[in-house]
Amino acid sequence: MNKYVVILAAGKGTRMKSKLYKVLHKVCGKTMVEHVVDAAKGTNADKIITVVGTGAEKVKDVLAGQSDFAFQEKQLGTGDAVMATADLLENLDGVTLVATGDTPLFTSETFNNLFEKHIADGNSATVLTAKAPNPFGYGRIIRDDAGNVLRIVEQKDGNAEELAVDEINTGVFAFNNKELFDALKQVGNDNAQGEYYLTDVLEIMRKAGKKVGAYEMSDFSESLGVNDRIALAQATKIMQKRINEAHMRDGVSFIDPDTAYIDSDVKIGNDTVIEGNVVIKGNTEIGSDCYITSGSRIVDSKIGNNVTITSSTIQEAEMDDNTDIGPNSHLRPQAIIRKGAHIGNFVEIKKAEIGEDTKVGHLTYVGDATLGKDINIGCGTIFSNYDGVKKFHTNVGDHSFIGAGATIIAPVNIADHAFVAADSTITKDVDKYDMAIARGRQTNKPDYWHKLPLSKDKEWE
Ligand code: UD1
Ligand code: CA
Repeated sequence: MNKYVVILAAGKGTRMKSKLYKVLHKVCGKTMVEHVVDAAKGTNADKIITVVGTGAEKVKDVLAGQSDFAFQEKQLGTGDAVMATADLLENLDGVTLVATGDTPLFTSETFNNLFEKHIADGNSATVLTAKAPNPFGYGRIIRDDAGNVLRIVEQKDGNAEELAVDEINTGVFAFNNKELFDALKQVGNDNAQGEYYLTDVLEIMRKAGKKVGAYEMSDFSESLGVNDRIALAQATKIMQKRINEAHMRDGVSFIDPDTAYIDSDVKIGNDTVIEGNVVIKGNTEIGSDCYITSGSRIVDSKIGNNVTITSSTIQEAEMDDNTDIGPNSHLRPQAIIRKGAHIGNFVEIKKAEIGEDTKVGHLTYVGDATLGKDINIGCGTIFSNYDGVKKFHTNVGDHSFIGAGATIIAPVNIADHAFVAADSTITKDVDKYDMAIARGRQTNKPDYWHKLPLSKDKEWE
């Protein structure tokens, strides 16, 4: 049996009060519509078609290569939206699952269960339902005394008795594909919103003598529809719990999973420990046996094994095995920390490679530089890389020693085994085994104390 998935994502999302188009709002780092497409992919459907309208180009950019697209010119309702796929689907045999782009929590498992149930029951239409603790805003499932599904009534169209029903339409359906398009042609817009409702297809099919059923899922939270920011935060909480529990099952420890904010696609190795109040975002990979303390934020970065990150911010950077950083340091884009290197506190590194076993312990800025192995960078060193117009590069060779408080004015090359004396301002290259010292000499003035005005007030001279 051929399987198709249609995802409705053409609506404006007025209730979000946003410049950003609704289905592009993110839940745990991934747009809502991508979450739905991910779940659809897990069904091995023959086609996935996303219906776009408002903000069509932006949605297409996000989903490029993952979905086909149909264009709904005017947002005349969910029924009209499915109709927009007619050119791509109408004449095909098979089963079509329709979902909405604003329900990010559905899993492939649920979609697969619906396909199976629909096919096993020999239905023309099967609606996925759930019992909602607060059904307000959802379509209600109206059944007869024998439990057969009669129709779906929208919030704005229901009478008191209908609105008292707590079984809701999750917005997901399976349909016999050809019969779906036959029925859609008969959907009208005589309702409170003047829209063509997809939900009316059930009653139309039933009245035409076709078999219509429901599949009630046990977990309502999966069907949460996001129409406003409150639901967006609720969806994020639920998704976060799911993500963190999956990591725990894979051997990651969380001190406080409620406050560890991990994006959907982040990878974490086993025996890594994550404290509370940690944010790990985007395309980040973390190895095994790492320890990440509270106050750390890691974005789009690659962290090796046995790395300790203490209250630090890491963005588009790399840390190899057996490295550590922090507290309160900042790796900016293209910072690469090689094996065994140590980055201490209040250090900022940008577009620079820090070689194996090199130590950058305290209060230092390294920008546009290549540092070799086993170097010691003293406290308060500044790699001065910018003249206000251009950036310049610095190289420091293996086993060199840079004394505290040095200012290294790029471009400059410091060779292997070079020694830079503390507080030097380095503007020229330093050769192998040389020591560079570039600072004012100290002068001591004997008995100067007595010439100072403050000496008069002091009794101990
Ligand atoms: C819809 C259902 C409701 C169900 C709920 C589940 C209808 C009439 N109502 O209500 O029964 O309980 O979902 O979450 O189907 N869209 C289009 N084109 C349009 C209108 C909507 O593509 O012309 C898309 C939207 O982008 C959205 C989805 O369809 O992703 C659902 O639309 P929305 O306005 O959110 O419907 P609900 O009021 O939530
Ligand atoms: Ca909705």
